[in-house]
Amino acid sequence: MGIRTSIDLKLDLSSAFNALVGELSAALSELGMQFEAGVHGRVMEGSTEVGRVIGWQPGEQILLEWHGADWQPAEVATVELRFEPIEGGTRVTLERPEWGSVLGDQGDELAGWFASEVAAPLLRAMAPGRLGDWITDRRARRPSGAQARAFYRDPLYHRPNFKAILQVLGLRHDDYLLEVGCGGGAFLEEALRSGCKAAAIDHSRDMVRVAGELNRAAISQNRLEIREGEADSLPYPDATFTCAVMTGVFGFISNPLKALSEIRRVLAGGGRLVLFTGSKELRGTPAAPEPMASRLHFYEDQELVELARKAGFDDAKVERPDFEQFAREVGIPEEFLGLFKGNAGGQLLIARKQSA
Ligand SMILES: C[S@@+](CC[C@H](N)C(=O)[O-])C[C@H]1O[C@@H](n2cnc3c(N)ncnc32)[C@H](O)[C@@H]1O
Repeated sequence: MGIRTSIDLKLDLSSAFNALVGELSAALSELGMQFEAGVHGRVMEGSTEVGRVIGWQPGEQILLEWHGADWQPAEVATVELRFEPIEGGTRVTLERPEWGSVLGDQGDELAGWFASEVAAPLLRAMAPGRLGDWITDRRARRPSGAQARAFYRDPLYHRPNFKAILQVLGLRHDDYLLEVGCGGGAFLEEALRSGCKAAAIDHSRDMVRVAGELNRAAISQNRLEIREGEADSLPYPDATFTCAVMTGVFGFISNPLKALSEIRRVLAGGGRLVLFTGSKELRGTPAAPEPMASRLHFYEDQELVELARKAGFDDAKVERPDFEQFAREVGIPEEFLGLFKGNAGGQLLIARKQSA
């Protein structure tokens, strides 16, 4: 008696294998486990070896010797990840054929384990709340995976916002810029053309990786440093930067006052902040579709100004530029220019920290 679960993917065998290995490594890492892939690979939970690769056939099978219970070292099982061709794709199956005696031989205990550890989390994962959160995280709130990495490396539809910010910011070569939530680093790449120095954080490991790859030259010249970090606890000393930027991030921030206060703290006297956030007119459009739309906070102009003042900024104001010209400049296709027309596309919060 064992456990078997499978999913059918519209991917060929080799793509399914590579995707699963990459995604499983990332997902286990989030859960505090390390999957070292390959012929001599293993699965670690802290310093404990839980599984050891005993069969590795790319596109076909991964076989693990599994030590599910360190208090019963003789209890060794096999866990198989199997890849089989099916019409139009690949079936991926995870199977542990024998359960063994860890839970005793009581069917009730196994039923309880299956219900609470497998079936209930699976049902929750497929229900609207968790699925909506997963999609929102995956695509925008904490982007991860191959599609997100490709998108944020060159986010064409964000470039009009970048242009609007850069126009207001007027970067000089002696500026030291902070970007909070830098995604794949495309804004940084444009900003660094001014000759300035910069630092950036993002809480997505994948985004930090992409942003680093895209801006490799600036990093090696010590003009840029990118870290994994949270907007509400910036890893920099007080009064470090001359200016700060946040674009496409603020609507996801759960403690906006804390985030703005942190930016103010790390700005030097006279330092300026320019923040772009999508306005509520975008809710439900391709710029802010579901399930992201209902997980984003859309602000009134006045709310943004008040938050900035509460955080200690002076001269706070909101501008709503016409993004259409910027959209034309960056090459948004004609049929999508409508998304950028008028002043409903987004808000620029512009604020300054008083000079010391
Ligand atoms: C929609 S993406 C925008 C990325 C980039 N600024 C752009 O415009 O292309 C939002 C980014 O903010 C990051 N982010 C969201 N909340 C964050 C937080 N609390 N701390 C740090 N980064 C955050 C996400 O990981 C993601 O990379």
